[in-house]
Amino acid sequence: MSDAEYDQLFRELRDLEERYPELVTSDSPTRRVGEAASEKFAPYAHLSPMLSLANAFDAGELRAFDGRVRKAGGAVAYVAELKIDGLAISLQYRNGTLERGGTRGDGVTGEDVTANLRTVRSIPLRLRTDRVAGVPAFLEARGEVYLRKSDFEKINARREREGLAPFANPRNAAAGAVRQLDPRLTAERKLSFFAYAVGELKGVALKSQWGALELLRETGFPVNPNIRRCATIDDVIAFCGEWESKRDDLDYEIDGVVVKVDDLAQQERLGSAGRDPRWATAYKFRAREARTKLVDIAITVGRTGTLNPNAVLEPVQIGGVTVRNATLHNAEYIRNNDIRIGDVVTVVRAGDVIPRVVGPVLELRKKKLAEFAMPDACPVCGADVDHPEGEAMSRCTNAACPAQVVERVRHFASRGAMDIEGIGDVMAAQLTELGLVKNIADIYALDARALERVPRTGEKTVTNLLRNIETSKQRGLARLLSGLGIRFVGSQNAQLLADEFGSMEALQAAEEEALLRVEGVGAEIAQSLRLFFAQRANRAMLERLRTLGVAMDAPRRSRGGPLIGKTFVLTGTLPGMTREEAAALIQQAGGKVTGSVSKRTDYVVAGADPGSKLAKAEALDVPVLDEAALRRLLGTFPTDR
Ligand code: IVH
Repeated sequence: MSDAEYDQLFRELRDLEERYPELVTSDSPTRRVGEAASEKFAPYAHLSPMLSLANAFDAGELRAFDGRVRKAGGAVAYVAELKIDGLAISLQYRNGTLERGGTRGDGVTGEDVTANLRTVRSIPLRLRTDRVAGVPAFLEARGEVYLRKSDFEKINARREREGLAPFANPRNAAAGAVRQLDPRLTAERKLSFFAYAVGELKGVALKSQWGALELLRETGFPVNPNIRRCATIDDVIAFCGEWESKRDDLDYEIDGVVVKVDDLAQQERLGSAGRDPRWATAYKFRAREARTKLVDIAITVGRTGTLNPNAVLEPVQIGGVTVRNATLHNAEYIRNNDIRIGDVVTVVRAGDVIPRVVGPVLELRKKKLAEFAMPDACPVCGADVDHPEGEAMSRCTNAACPAQVVERVRHFASRGAMDIEGIGDVMAAQLTELGLVKNIADIYALDARALERVPRTGEKTVTNLLRNIETSKQRGLARLLSGLGIRFVGSQNAQLLADEFGSMEALQAAEEEALLRVEGVGAEIAQSLRLFFAQRANRAMLERLRTLGVAMDAPRRSRGGPLIGKTFVLTGTLPGMTREEAAALIQQAGGKVTGSVSKRTDYVVAGADPGSKLAKAEALDVPVLDEAALRRLLGTFPTDR
């Protein structure tokens, strides 16, 4: 069952047990924590129980928690931390050396997985001594082993190439890796770690959870940077709200916020109730998963001719949004996951991402259902569909298929590309259906006479549209490139290429090696560009765009300036300017702005609530600037706002 269903049933059981204590059994799920230890690893006895946490599902329940805490004694400060969705572990260090590590198990005994945990690069094998007064004689660190989303995707892509079933989520992949019998297999899976608590400790005194996190950081553990000390429960609630909406910006999964009483003496006084401490609670984000019936599979044709299967669902609420459609990716995905029309399926919705059908709920498949097959004829133009051997995607073979043209026009005119207001879904379809636009360049040949043929367009609309088309000619090389819909060339890559080459001509003439020298451009992108420019039809279209007055150059980059040759990454909210403004100022001063932190990054500019980029910068020793420091570099000073 889904986590959300589990949580709900668990609460119901707990409420019942509270009302009817005589019915509680010793094997009730409320009496144990996590999974029992398996036989294949030696047991790992916990020095103190590894507790689990009670949940809070809304602000009201957080306030109730705060009420209980304060009733038990005085003013409280809290520490709010992200709830990392991984696997809890414990690590024991004697005189600064990692001695043993184990899983949580049932909270009392876990599994000794020392050899596997040693392969996790961010787990220190020796504690740092240069930043603390003395190394603790003994220290137990507790924390979460997890898999980065980016690593998870790489692993799944490889598994699919090797014909293995993909993992359902990063947590499952991480849990499997930690419990591998061969540590080399664990190492291959590139696990990461965040420490969030100190267990047993000798030789150093701690007063607060905040202090514990500081000690962990100073002795060399990765500690999640997104933590906040909160003076009131209102601060806590605000923190929870912020991260509920920002969770998708992170490169790891979080499923909530853990709220802890900061003062350790106060924690002690509060104690625990059964398996849960009274001094902490987990605010759980709204579920993003639900079950519903798959009514049909509808096929749309994408701008590269791919046939995309879409799930038509019985409408269902997920995290406050009604979901009616979801992606099914491709035929192979449907086959591998054995998804059939008529099934009850599990659907997940992750933030802004399109909802996705995870798979069928097989125990609810009561009658025989037919396997799904992709059509052999394009549902739009009727041409043959190609199902290339070994490729996941099926494609319409007709390059002039109207569906492809509509999609290309729509994409070209979209916000992130040439931003032509007035050419949306409907107009794109009408223009192609009437044969007014057969390829992108035709947009710039439209005139009032042609547009009059589009039904329900008045004089005003026509004038506005023509004006918007005219303005779009000056968007510059980066926008144009991203509008062309070249495979793998999205807006970010388009910007990098435009910055580097400055004109369509230079880009077109660039050899593969020259393309590969651009930071962020890999073999896939380089090849895709070469292939695009190799097509005579594409070259003709570009020539036509040029003749019709579309700018093919990047806006002038400053050749001098204080930041020439410097690469910046921006993260978080700056007090006196937006990220876009900061990026523009940096570029005007000759600097470059990229999306991710690497060894080649010169500076990270961090504002409030920075994302994982700040942690990455710290890990790579990249200097971190605040807005004031950036302004000093730029030689500008804050203006009054
Ligand atoms: S504190 C008594 N802090 O959430 C306090 N737990 O049920 C125990 N988790 O599986 C845990 N991030 O592994 C704490 N910042 C964090 C956490 C965290 C994730 C996990 C923990 C456990 C579950 C708590």
